[in-house]
Amino acid sequence: MQRFVILISGRGSNMLALLDAGLPGECVAVISNRTDAAGLEQARARGIATAVVGHATSGGREAFEAALAAEIDRYQPDLILLAGFMRILGDEFVRRYQDRMLNIHPSLLPAFPGLKTHAQALAAGVRIHGCTVHFVTPSLDAGPIVIQAAVPVLSDDSEATLAARVLEQEHVIYTLAARWFLEGRLQVHDGRRVTLNDEGGNSDVLINPGCL
Ligand code: GAR
Repeated sequence: MQRFVILISGRGSNMLALLDAGLPGECVAVISNRTDAAGLEQARARGIATAVVGHATSGGREAFEAALAAEIDRYQPDLILLAGFMRILGDEFVRRYQDRMLNIHPSLLPAFPGLKTHAQALAAGVRIHGCTVHFVTPSLDAGPIVIQAAVPVLSDDSEATLAARVLEQEHVIYTLAARWFLEGRLQVHDGRRVTLNDEGGNSDVLINPGCL
């Protein structure tokens, strides 16, 4: 059975969606850079090993990333899932887990990378917003896209209402993407384009989970 590790920094709702999805793999650890990440307690309650590698106490970014990699490698995962992990990761760390690290981002990339994506969407006046699961590469929020889900932006939306609408879809597409990876069905072409290997051959990855 394939093994995966989830990295979190906070609430952990995507982590919970992944843990409760009955994925064809074993979650061998949940690791956080923050001791106060609420998701850690939820993982422990499900009997999953947890660890904290503090970014502030580990002596700079290189030392932090070395300690984080050492902790991850103890569990020998096939897949690393960043689920609200709010640290920018350096090239060396990212390359170590190339093609086996996924991230969920709360916008339709390449629109609105970085932070405060819902505020960015409201400020830009877009009518459609959403979320993206992508492979992690050294360029921030720019790795090969696996799946995206779109939601409408309503005229009376606040950051909070828009975030809630997007989050619901995050849980759907992240579990789907993780399942595809664990089933060995995702292929990255030229470091850019991702296809889903279906029984009948390669088919395009579906965009709207509502269609599935
Ligand atoms: C989610 O909305 C996730 O997409 C976002 O943080 C939130 C974590 O929520 N991630 C990023 O912004 C990464 N740049 P959760 O802890 O409840 O899953």
